[in-house]
Amino acid sequence: MRLSWFIIPLLMGSCSLEEANSPYPFPETPFGEVPQPERNQASAKGVELGKKLFFDTRLSKNGSVSCATCHHADKAFSDGIALTEAGVSGKKLLRHAPALFNLAWYEGLFWDGGSKNLESQVFGPLMHPDEMGMDLGELVKKLQADSEYPALFKGVWGTDSITSQRFAHAIAQYERTLISYHSPYDNWKAGEGALSEPELRGYAVYQTFCSRCHTEGLFTDLSHHANGIDSQITTPGFELMYMGHYRITLDSSDIGKFKTPSLRNLGFTAPYMHDGRFVELDEVLDHYFKEHRNNSLADEILKTNAYMEVSQQQKNDLKAFLYALNDTTFVKQQP
Ligand code: HEC
Ligand code: HEC
Repeated sequence: MRLSWFIIPLLMGSCSLEEANSPYPFPETPFGEVPQPERNQASAKGVELGKKLFFDTRLSKNGSVSCATCHHADKAFSDGIALTEAGVSGKKLLRHAPALFNLAWYEGLFWDGGSKNLESQVFGPLMHPDEMGMDLGELVKKLQADSEYPALFKGVWGTDSITSQRFAHAIAQYERTLISYHSPYDNWKAGEGALSEPELRGYAVYQTFCSRCHTEGLFTDLSHHANGIDSQITTPGFELMYMGHYRITLDSSDIGKFKTPSLRNLGFTAPYMHDGRFVELDEVLDHYFKEHRNNSLADEILKTNAYMEVSQQQKNDLKAFLYALNDTTFVKQQP
């Protein structure tokens, strides 16, 4: 009698907790297992909650801006604008909103590597006065008073007490599920489809000129480089914002270095670079295939004559290959 008293609630407790925490079924990816921190393992309900939060404009100071305001699902979560003014203040941001996919593999976030992980990154846009401008205390109060959120948090953590940490963890869980690996290139690699002759020739051009930084697979080496778009950098009063990775390390060899973005999904993510300065992919290619020798900031890799000797035909082939990295499945499956 006494025993069952203890056992029944214990069993009930563990059952409902197990249901709440059923792990999110990550797919098998060509990049290996999806990395996630021990302290924030994705659950099906956590991902669902994170997704709802990502698209909820009530998370902003004036109730009109959500994460998705600047990260559009149909643009592989970029926004199509060089420097957006869509934040709560209406002021132009200093950097271009990057696409969001395969982030679970990134070791640093933001163009300069200013954020260490997805969990802490959330607070950047959330609290920034020109993005969502939200006060953390107010956010928690708002969510706690909501008719749906307390139950959803309870479904994930077994308690309806909402904290800013759980809030950030849910969004990070959702972001780790944004995995893009269904491009024609991926199908070809998996032996399930063919690339055209121009695409295959373009693959060779890519391997010679681009792969050392945009490493095959994720198409980024997850590192920072100066790709020669600037030969000098002036920072008029913006706290080193244009100095790149130097802002984080204060090592002068990092001046002008930015995160290597992935070459996947370029068909959806124009304009390009940390300030969105190039509207067309052709402008990007024209930038790379020219003389970089006199640019003291440019990476040594770019300083060979070979870049200047690339023909128009090779550029066209390269472009065809780059578009074979567009993952239509990824942009269509999103809401
Ligand atoms: C007003 C526009 C805006 C809003 C709203 C916004 N972002 Fe961003 N996001 C940006 C910009 C601009 C950057 C690049 C900032 C930088 O690198 O300095 C960025 C960068 C990021 C990155 C880094 C990606 C990478 O490759 O390094 C992540 C992740 C991200 N945002 C997630 C979010 C989440 C989650 C929210 C909602 C809580 C959000 N963003 C809201 C504009 C926005
Ligand atoms: C030395 C390393 C390096 C090499 C080599 C290199 N890139 Fe880049 N690439 C970068 C970095 C770093 C950035 C981001 C620069 C910035 O925003 O300031 C970048 C940005 C880009 C972008 C913009 C993507 C976006 O989302 O904004 C494209 C497109 C691109 N590179 C294509 C290429 C192609 C094509 C080649 C080969 C011809 C190439 N890159 C060679 C390092 C490199």
